[in-house]
Amino acid sequence: MASASVTVRVPAKVNLQLSVGPPRPDGFHELATVFHAVSLFDDVVARRVEPGAGISLTISGEGATFLPTDRTNLAWAAAELMADRAGVAADVAIHLNKGIPVAGGMAGGSADAAGALVACDQLWQLGTSRSELMELAAQLGSDVPFALHGGTAIGTGRGEQLMSVLARGTFQWVFALAEGGLSTPAVYAECDRLRGGGIVREPYISDNLMQALRAGDSVLLGKALHNDLQPAALSLRPSLRNVLELSDDYGALGGIVSGSGPTCAFIANDDDQSLDLAVSLTAAGVCRTVKRAVGPVPGARIIG
Ligand code: C5P
Repeated sequence: MASASVTVRVPAKVNLQLSVGPPRPDGFHELATVFHAVSLFDDVVARRVEPGAGISLTISGEGATFLPTDRTNLAWAAAELMADRAGVAADVAIHLNKGIPVAGGMAGGSADAAGALVACDQLWQLGTSRSELMELAAQLGSDVPFALHGGTAIGTGRGEQLMSVLARGTFQWVFALAEGGLSTPAVYAECDRLRGGGIVREPYISDNLMQALRAGDSVLLGKALHNDLQPAALSLRPSLRNVLELSDDYGALGGIVSGSGPTCAFIANDDDQSLDLAVSLTAAGVCRTVKRAVGPVPGARIIG
């Protein structure tokens, strides 16, 4: 018998490398990126409702008040797209419990879309294939397929074409969350502006990064982190420079702006060092809050 509700847990991502090419005719940028899923999660609950009730959306958790609860929310759009594709009525009550920072460069909105696809598929008993889920995800946003995939993966195209990466071991992360968010399109536009129309090299994945992942070597990984959007995020939010510099003093193995920011991500050697770093960053008062996490973790999965 079909259950009355489905809960899906979806991880945040950090880009270990984000290599950004020139803008394409469709307005997106060609990317070569390494996505890495970390243990900050959103839970997406899809609950059965009366036939004809339509879609409704509620949100709890950090930053919930800043998010729309109508069809402009990507989770709502995902439920609508799934119903359209399957030819079923879009009747569902969706609830998002946010653990991923809002507008933080960690793909929280994409996580919610991925979660809504998986939850509605299960609630409506559609049996959608993995490849079809991936295709729907790519229609919703560049980072949505990775939220389904999880783990560590190379992303090309606009980020939606994925290839798994074999990574050994687990890495310890500390995330410094900023006050307020940054708009992803604004950060890409600033990146183009700073480049001033000069020649931009083809996006690429560095060998050092791949080696660090294959070896499970946090020290090498710390040195190999790279984000082409970082200068743009720092230009729009100069205070992030303090966070990155301080974490260096506090012994982080490497630090980077996560995606389009403003969250900053730091890698630590082990659990103890990660705790020290988190405490020091908190005490320095340079960010809104600090969260610790590990990666890689699996993509969207049903937990109840
Ligand atoms: O795909 P998504 O809706 O997440 O993208 C949000 C915005 O980020 C796009 O409208 C675009 O401005 C920018 N973007 C980009 N190139 C990419 C991915 C995103 O320019 N590869």
